[in-house]
Amino acid sequence: MIDSRALPKAELHVHIEGTFEPAQIFQFAQRNNVQLAYSSVAALEEAYKFTDLQSFLNLYYAAMAALRTERDFEELTIAYLQRAKAQGVRHAEIFFDPQAHLDRGLSFETVVSGLWAALQRSSEFGITTALIMCFLRDQSEASAMQTLELALSHRDKIIGVGLDSAELGNPPSKFQAVFDRARAAGFLTVAHAGEEGPPEYVWEALNLLKVSRIDHGVRCMEDSKLVAHLAQTEVPLTVCPLSNVRLRVVDRMADHPLKRMMEAGLRCTVNSDDPAYFGGYVGDNFSAVQSGLQLTDDDLVQLARNSFTSSFIDEAAKREYLAQIEGFAAMNTVMKFGLSR
Ligand code: ADE
Ligand code: ZN
Repeated sequence: MIDSRALPKAELHVHIEGTFEPAQIFQFAQRNNVQLAYSSVAALEEAYKFTDLQSFLNLYYAAMAALRTERDFEELTIAYLQRAKAQGVRHAEIFFDPQAHLDRGLSFETVVSGLWAALQRSSEFGITTALIMCFLRDQSEASAMQTLELALSHRDKIIGVGLDSAELGNPPSKFQAVFDRARAAGFLTVAHAGEEGPPEYVWEALNLLKVSRIDHGVRCMEDSKLVAHLAQTEVPLTVCPLSNVRLRVVDRMADHPLKRMMEAGLRCTVNSDDPAYFGGYVGDNFSAVQSGLQLTDDDLVQLARNSFTSSFIDEAAKREYLAQIEGFAAMNTVMKFGLSR
């Protein structure tokens, strides 16, 4: 079997706040004099039993109370880069949720400066990186628009905008004007859609927000016209299998639609979403789908290829990363051949 953690890959769906590991939450809370509702790391981890997206979001936002300073955001991101390197990540497009920090009295500059300080060191980890700012869809359109205004002077650091948080009842249509303005300002666009929400939300993200990628998108499988459209237009889907199991989008990995999505000709990628909360980083997700869905080594290599072809890097960089995958796959074949004789 291929070493799924060594396979070169891009991570296109990771929330930096979702990489906040329990020990680091406590470390930052202590140095910032923040009182947490949990007495120990073990007590906090005990709460990681989610029943749906909202039950997770409640804890996710609560833990952010420990993030106060530029240094916190920098150290959080450096820790992610270290882990990503160990999982074969060569390129990462990283989400952040500024409204969740502005609401707690932090400035946009504190957050972006901390993230940016870390990302400027990406090459030390052999990784290229980009930042995507997400709007919280359970907040108002006006709040999203104000946040977009704050981002305009950071266009050099933020390549795109996305849409996340509680999906049900917050359709993409609510943010059409915000995304129009974001595109006019030169931002690329993506959106979470079809995680808990219906296929109609995926249609809206495509037709109204004109996104280049759909984050999650697994519920597209309930609409055969949508599947045909996604296959024909080759819109990438950033699928997050361990997240879907932990947030009860599916009961077990064996029930996950990823394999059927691939068979339907969809351009799927595999990602970690909020790895500190869902039991694994991106290489762990590759490994979990291989064993849970009986994917072949070729399937995993194809998912790795898709991760780069679906990324926002330029064509020359894509070719370079794809060549690294072919080299890795060829080596894997030689090793298998050697071992089978
Ligand atoms: N924010 C962080 N993780 C998320 C997810 N899986 N869905 C929606 N919003 C999120
Ligand atoms: Zn997500």
